[in-house]
Amino acid sequence: MLPLSLLAAAGLLALGPASASASAVPGPNLVVRGDGFIRSPVNAIPEPAPKIRVRQNEVEIENQRTGTRYGVDIELGTPGQKLTLILDTGSPDTWVNPTCQFANVPRDCESYPRFDYTKSRSLNATKAVDTLVYGIGNSTIQYVYETVKIGSAMITNQIIGIGLETHSIPLGILGLSPPVRGVNEYPYILDTMKSQGLIKSRAFSLDLRTVDSPDGALIFGGIDTGKYIGSLEKLPMLPKEKTPRGADRYYVTMSGVGLTLPDGTATRSQQISVPVFLDSGGTLSRLPTPIFQAFASSFEGAEFDERTGFYFLPCGVADLAGSVDFYFGNKVIRVPFNDFVWHVQGFCVLGVLPDDEEPVLGDTFLRAAYVVFDQDNRNLHIAQAANCGTNLVAIGSGTDAVPSQTGRCTARPPSATQAGGLDVTATRGAPTALFTGEGPTGIGVGPGPVATRVSGSGSLAAPTESSKNAAGKGIEVGFGMVAAVVAANVLGWMI
Ligand SMILES: *[C@@H]1O[C@H](CO)[C@@H](O)[C@H](O)[C@H]1NC(C)=O
Ligand SMILES: *[C@@H]1O[C@H](CO)[C@@H](O)[C@H](O)[C@H]1NC(C)=O
Repeated sequence: MLPLSLLAAAGLLALGPASASASAVPGPNLVVRGDGFIRSPVNAIPEPAPKIRVRQNEVEIENQRTGTRYGVDIELGTPGQKLTLILDTGSPDTWVNPTCQFANVPRDCESYPRFDYTKSRSLNATKAVDTLVYGIGNSTIQYVYETVKIGSAMITNQIIGIGLETHSIPLGILGLSPPVRGVNEYPYILDTMKSQGLIKSRAFSLDLRTVDSPDGALIFGGIDTGKYIGSLEKLPMLPKEKTPRGADRYYVTMSGVGLTLPDGTATRSQQISVPVFLDSGGTLSRLPTPIFQAFASSFEGAEFDERTGFYFLPCGVADLAGSVDFYFGNKVIRVPFNDFVWHVQGFCVLGVLPDDEEPVLGDTFLRAAYVVFDQDNRNLHIAQAANCGTNLVAIGSGTDAVPSQTGRCTARPPSATQAGGLDVTATRGAPTALFTGEGPTGIGVGPGPVATRVSGSGSLAAPTESSKNAAGKGIEVGFGMVAAVVAANVLGWMI
């Protein structure tokens, strides 16, 4: 047990509602198309407001601070129709138009704009249909060729899915992972951007920003040296064969975890070697049980909720200086408590769940990291995120495509770190402090990584006029037919 438990002392918890001046610095909500890079804002999408319990003004504050999922705006079709998609580094497919009938909160799902494919001149439908199964929910989609505009970058003939039946996923998804099975089934967004000369490498950088700051950014083919501290640490992506379930994802090796206390002293775990993948579609991180327990037992006042599996923390903890730390080689990414906590419906949830199968660093990690995902060279480059202006630099091509430029922001003073102080090998018993209140309702923790794909029918070969007509009709009235086909084709694949 760490001295952090002292933080739970009454005085420190009496801080009241967190500083709510979330929008002190309005972010540049612009999209920049530079020389070989495209910058697009990334915004936290609020959870649906609860019907009761929280007063209206508090709901607004809460909405700004939840950081439940992150969205990117795109335009689809001709003329372009504006849509918001969940940004997901855990799956490769891009699709739109979830059906809201089976959403957790239908009115939330219905509140987002939908793509009316009958109004697009550039739509070319195929007959191919798949069911994409995510950690939470699934979507049966029909593939079409369409024009996708991200910022001022126009991607033509991009294959995307149109939702036919969706369960539990309230928004479409912009998928940026490598092909999970290791084989490109078709050119994904990054592939097309490169082949159409919009970017030079299949690489992008992601800066989710903190829950208090609305202006995160996704930069295709570029980095922003005004958004991180020090050097970018190059971490090789694990080959598919070496990942826990043989799936090709943005997996790197984590070498330690730790905590920095409000007084600046830090403690870290033994040297470990844990494969983790970086998943912007995951609201929370998921780590092996001993690490999860080591974190949970460090926060006194944490109460385990048997219903949801969450640990609720006294919200005052989130307002304390201090961080949850992740080590990669020589690099440490310190996630301030406020970013590691998931703020939802007035509750503060510890930003980690147990997972011994496929460990994930989700948004509760990514908010504090600046990450360059380089698919061409199979490296991730990471640094501590910060904000000290904007200096966009294009990523070229070749093995050293990601510029090794030092971030312009200055480092926080280093802390003395006590090695081995956080024991992540201990076996701990079941939690004793149990949450007995009424928890948040109707919430979801992001789509989670794509897990399986159930093959549907048809092919993605160049569309023909007749397939366009047939599929166009299929989209409209064919769901019964599609469902039957899917049921007959559960060949699928499992990871
Ligand atoms: C649809 O696809 C066909 C075959 O590839 C192509 O000739 C046609 O130009 C496409 N139509 C549109 C609107 O993109
Ligand atoms: C999709 O989700 C629904 C609801 O949970 C379930 O009934 C259905 O079997 C799922 N489909 C697939 C292919 O996993």
